[in-house]
Amino acid sequence: MLYNMKNLLKVANEHHFAVPAFNICSFDMLKSIMEKAEELNSPVILEIHPDEIQYLGDNFVSVVRAYALNSKIPVVIHLDHGGSLYDVTRAIKNGYTSVMIDASTKPFEENIELTKKIVELAHNIDVSVEAELGTIGNNGSSEGGTDEIIYTDPDQAEYFVNETNIDTLAVAIGTSHGLYPKGKKPKLNIELLKEINNRLSIPIVLHGGSGNPDEEVKESILYGVGKVNLSSDLKSAFFNEVRNTLSNNKDLYEPNEIYPIANKKLKEVVEYKLNLLNTTGKAKLYK
Ligand code: 13P
Repeated sequence: MLYNMKNLLKVANEHHFAVPAFNICSFDMLKSIMEKAEELNSPVILEIHPDEIQYLGDNFVSVVRAYALNSKIPVVIHLDHGGSLYDVTRAIKNGYTSVMIDASTKPFEENIELTKKIVELAHNIDVSVEAELGTIGNNGSSEGGTDEIIYTDPDQAEYFVNETNIDTLAVAIGTSHGLYPKGKKPKLNIELLKEINNRLSIPIVLHGGSGNPDEEVKESILYGVGKVNLSSDLKSAFFNEVRNTLSNNKDLYEPNEIYPIANKKLKEVVEYKLNLLNTTGKAKLYK
């Protein structure tokens, strides 16, 4: 079943769980994530970053849509960190059901103006819109962010959501994109999250979901987080296993001999995250 983000997260918020948004950058990742989500009867968000679609090509989305349409679990196809009107219209043309416009590094008024334009366009055809306020950190990931986190201001968040009519808001409360280097410990500012959540009536999105303390991620669900973006934890598990397989078996060249162990590893991470966010089994709540 293909859902938009608004309808998917409405159920999640009512039943106190969050849905992971997994960045998919290859067919093996798509297939493994869908198989595990189906096995656990869990809703899932498949998200694709502009850099990823540039690599994969638009035809890849036809396969993603086929998976979603033929599945009995709810699936959202989401544009991660769209940076321009081009990114967003390309995604909508490809059949995504949800888009992010990330103008968080632009001046506040510009962020509002561009986001409003995207909302007007997308809502006409029932596509959901996520925007970002404040800027999350960056551990050297190509997904962006600033060296120093710019924490989301609750007053601005309330004003921004009222002005733009977005469906979900990505906030900066202490996370960073990418894997944390040794010695850098993330800390989620749960008090700030509570304050933001008190001002908003839409689901909150946690970007940079990899490498954070599980307890803090779990706690964030109590205070409005309905979507957790996860990329690095999955990709690193998958490609570390590909590296192992290839270095232990120097003569391998058949994909169906190289990838199965990495797919298994990836499925373990997907299962772990679905359990962590309390998503497992929740597909039954969607009619
Ligand atoms: P991680 O790579 O830290 O999981 O972040 C993913 C993300 O936020 C995509 O938008």
